[in-house]
Amino acid sequence: MKNLKAVILAAGEGTRMKSKMPKVLHEVLNKTMIDYVIDTAKGCGAEEVCVVVGHKADEVKASIKKDGVSFALQKEQKGTGHAVMMAGDFIEEDKDILILYGDTPLIQGDTLEKLVEKHRQEDFGATVISANVENPEGYGRIIRDAKGNFIKIVEHKDATAEERLVKEINTGIYIFKGVALKTSLGKLDNHNVQGEYYLPDCLALILNAGGKVGAVVAEDDKEFFGVNSRVQLAEATKIMKTRINHGHMENGVTLVDPENTYIGADVKIGMDTVILPGCVLEGYTEIGEDCKIGPNSHLTDMRLGDGATFQSSTALESTIGNNTTVGPFAYIRPNCKIGDNVKVGDFVEVKNSNIGNGTKIPHLAYIGDTDAGEKVNFGCGSIMVNYDGKKKHRTIVEDNVFVGCNVNLVAPVRVKAGAYVAAGSTITRDVPEDVLAVARARQQVIEGWKKKKMETES
Ligand code: UD1
Ligand code: CA
Repeated sequence: MKNLKAVILAAGEGTRMKSKMPKVLHEVLNKTMIDYVIDTAKGCGAEEVCVVVGHKADEVKASIKKDGVSFALQKEQKGTGHAVMMAGDFIEEDKDILILYGDTPLIQGDTLEKLVEKHRQEDFGATVISANVENPEGYGRIIRDAKGNFIKIVEHKDATAEERLVKEINTGIYIFKGVALKTSLGKLDNHNVQGEYYLPDCLALILNAGGKVGAVVAEDDKEFFGVNSRVQLAEATKIMKTRINHGHMENGVTLVDPENTYIGADVKIGMDTVILPGCVLEGYTEIGEDCKIGPNSHLTDMRLGDGATFQSSTALESTIGNNTTVGPFAYIRPNCKIGDNVKVGDFVEVKNSNIGNGTKIPHLAYIGDTDAGEKVNFGCGSIMVNYDGKKKHRTIVEDNVFVGCNVNLVAPVRVKAGAYVAAGSTITRDVPEDVLAVARARQQVIEGWKKKKMETES
């Protein structure tokens, strides 16, 4: 959407979280609340976003790694109106300004788009989203005249007994014409029970100056749910989880037990993939079609091809090709590129390595800092000895190499194509193509040894 900017309020302390961390940095399914709100604002077309920070401002700023986001500092929290004043330079008169809170991660793009549309169609100076709730305690109330026209918003603490009976509340989400916002902020005072500059007062100021103000009732009040405590954080997580999981199921992904499946908001999953119970899929993970994931698997920032199987394992920041099988109980650490038709079996750890197509690491191995070619076989107990106590070194294992059981390849070292490494070898020098390398003590057989032992013991 053109000419749209967003201000996100995130200066408050959030004391009820009882946390050392700023409230908006608490996570819902491994993503901070503030990141949800920023992504939603941008998703509905805000060209630029300004986050108003205050409490632990530096921490909040450092955590946000997104383009098109600037910050305004509110040193003292003197109310929501005061917070928006701090973003004064960001507010352009000829643009529309959305106002959102950093602690309402459930807000959805569609809802904001509809708000912007309505606001522009009706040529409102300001439009607020309201909601009808059972228990309006604590919220600002929307006061309308007998015809239902908006008059003002009154805060709970300032409201009369009669006003407190109103169940239509202010969700705290608004869109303003830049010029109307600027002008009304200039007239705002703090003559109220809390001695704060109330942003909702801007609406009455705009109305009284001859502008039009709209209050549109929300369809789903869950979206405006603000998180103030850990209990509410868990509630928001539950709602988000249901929303995300439903989306995947509607796209053709089977979730065997959606209650026990935790998928982050930015995860993508292909059709006909089955997710078994107990999986946690986080970050920018992308899973192809026809995969089988789980049970009890943890993937963060992973990319999986089609037809992959990933059983009871953990993987981070890596790529896995088509029809590759992982697990059970494998650990894939960051920066691995694992090809197609690879087997990474039970109790295998892979780190910072490239594994070519068709290579098998069926069990009990450590493959670190390694470049393995295609169709390599790593026997049980293969260890890439990558660390000399000071530095890490790389191991190169070329195509079609057979690494026997219980082999150490001491890096830096290269095993050339087609070579065999005998079981139990500790390889410290490069191995040429197509040879058998044996690096272990030759077996001895001592005849009559037992008899001698018995004699000396008796
Ligand atoms: C506000 C509204 C109220 C509405 C409610 C919805 C005002 C005066 N009241 O209530 O009508 O029903 O939201 O949740 O606006 N913040 C700052 N700086 C400040 C004060 C607040 O950045 O000086 C931020 C907070 O971090 C929070 C948001 O603004 O993200 C809302 O603040 P909060 O104190 O929760 O709202 P209320 O004033 O209780
Ligand atoms: Ca408050």
